[in-house]
Amino acid sequence: MDRIKIVDINNPELVGSNVSVMGWVRTRRGNKNVQFIALNDGSTINNLQVVVDLSRFSEEELKPITTGASLHVEGTLVASQGKGQSVEVQAEKIHVFGTADPEQYPMQKKGHTLEFLREKAHLRMRTNTFGAVFRIRHHLAFAIHQFFNDRGFFYLNTPLITASDAEGAGDMFQVTTLNPEDLPRDEQGRVDYSQDFFGKHTSLTVSGQLEGELGATALGAIYTFGPTFRAENSNTPRHLAEFWMIEPEVAFFDIHDNMDLAEEFIKYCVRYALDHCKDDIEFLNKMYDNTLIERLQGVLQQPFVRLGYTEGIEILKASGHKFEFPVEWGVDLQSEHERYLVEQHFKRPVILTDYPRDIKAFYMKQNEDGKTVRAMDVLFPQIGEIIGGSEREEDYDKLMSEIERRHIPMKDMWWYLETRKFGTVPHSGFGLGFERLVLFVTGMSNIRDVIPFPRTPGNAEF
Ligand code: 4AD
Ligand code: MG
Repeated sequence: MDRIKIVDINNPELVGSNVSVMGWVRTRRGNKNVQFIALNDGSTINNLQVVVDLSRFSEEELKPITTGASLHVEGTLVASQGKGQSVEVQAEKIHVFGTADPEQYPMQKKGHTLEFLREKAHLRMRTNTFGAVFRIRHHLAFAIHQFFNDRGFFYLNTPLITASDAEGAGDMFQVTTLNPEDLPRDEQGRVDYSQDFFGKHTSLTVSGQLEGELGATALGAIYTFGPTFRAENSNTPRHLAEFWMIEPEVAFFDIHDNMDLAEEFIKYCVRYALDHCKDDIEFLNKMYDNTLIERLQGVLQQPFVRLGYTEGIEILKASGHKFEFPVEWGVDLQSEHERYLVEQHFKRPVILTDYPRDIKAFYMKQNEDGKTVRAMDVLFPQIGEIIGGSEREEDYDKLMSEIERRHIPMKDMWWYLETRKFGTVPHSGFGLGFERLVLFVTGMSNIRDVIPFPRTPGNAEF
């Protein structure tokens, strides 16, 4: 008999037939005549109720069936009399694959805190909460590929190991095969990276954008979707040292096209999750945050506000609100400022543009005023910055003078400059932090709870 997944079992045509199911025990309860096993196989948040008639099974046979044990059950699928499910299985055969000693199994008890579960990252996916989060994460990843594929974007894989560190997006993790106990040195006593694996100093990438621009100026429209690494020592609920980023990059595209794309993209993802992850989102709404569904729908209903940085600063200064970090034209916005604009002032997502050039990356297109660049950050309720992007400076001379002004070493980036030398075009792109999107859609409050194995300062256990 073929195994059926629990997500597919709620099917009236199957009632009365024999089914074979496999999964892990969530609970077992009952009395001397009948026992009920709640079985979960990960395919859905919903458990299957297995009814065990004690006239057919001995107490001895049921003993190993405790929370966390793995089972194969065969039996008849029947309409359920009980509340909370429409079908259940009347067990005829039960095989225990593996037991989970209640004295030792850490997931034995319900209601563990998220902090406790973070210490048990190897098992936390077996809880309702993390099952829901990681199913939603999967569906969002799938939606992202669907969105870009439907619009003719090509998925480009950019390197994780890079020799360029000019993006300036954050501190980098070095990649080396040199022995730190015995480093080769040149005549001046500096480490001789020509003897390293790649013949030069290399690091893990902080962004696939620069290589993405090479793709966009050849294939027209590309997107990346891969891991990125930042060694910034920021222990916040919104930062990871290893996170996933989606970076579309499009030729013949200005900042307005870019904003339209970002808004359409993010709304598509939220709508997709509402349509495809109903049970999981309802569970999270019920357990953690009963305004979650409302907030997700809210984002879909109205156009995002589009506002210049300078006006944004004026609103913040006029607000009378006491911020931990004072605001002044020229400062980089903190998440308290971003959230004030979104949650208090406009009550919807905001795309903030035209930031001061000194707080943004060298490649952003310079505005006529000489002070600002065509940057755009998408700011979201609860999250703050969810997307960062810009129109790119396509003029070779302007780009070069900015690089010189910032003393950026260009010897490892000659290839990037060639996009501006040969057939340069106006182009734009952005980066969406995948975990920040998952945070928003799940309503979780700590980014460590939306990636299976979080990497943060001091934490790389699992
Ligand atoms: O704003 P960022 O640094 O932009 C870039 O890296 C550009 N190269 C993107 C582009 O234009 N192609 O990062 C983009 C997004 C942020 O808006 C945020 O959502 C997320 O990546 N992000 C992080 N997410 C988790 N942990 C971190 N440490 C993050 N740093 C950035
Ligand atoms: Mg940014």
